[in-house]
Amino acid sequence: MKFIEDQTAQKLRGGYYTPLDLASFIARWIADLKPDKVLEPSCGDGAFLQAMADVGAFSKAAITGFELDDDEAAKAARRAKELRLNRAEVRSEDFLGWAIENMGKGGDPLRASSRLAS
Ligand SMILES: C[S@@+](CC[C@H](N)C(=O)[O-])C[C@H]1O[C@@H](n2cnc3c(N)ncnc32)[C@H](O)[C@@H]1O
Repeated sequence: MKFIEDQTAQKLRGGYYTPLDLASFIARWIADLKPDKVLEPSCGDGAFLQAMADVGAFSKAAITGFELDDDEAAKAARRAKELRLNRAEVRSEDFLGWAIENMGKGGDPLRASSRLAS
């Protein structure tokens, strides 16, 4: 039996990121849908932001990432800036908490007003 107190913080929050080739495969699939909005509800350090930039069809899409861990959220936000994803924002917030509070009232995660990571 494994006990929570024996696990690392990384393991408990699921801090393991998608390899870039796999993220890029999924980003190409999403690009075919020509979305004008993209939600990444648990963005980690921004693997999918990197993939979207690499695929190159997201420059006009508004991208919103949420991330529980402030340090990882800041990494993702810096990554988006370096990648010139000018319409990307990363929020340091529990997406599920935000969704429970707001989505039943018609809230749009792309218009969340919670703290932006930087
Ligand atoms: C398995 S990683 C995936 C990260 C990224 N999406 C990727 O594919 O590389 C899961 C991330 O989600 C974050 N996370 C878990 N629950 C979350 C929640 N309710 N709201 C926001 N972020 C969450 C964790 O901190 C972790 O960085």
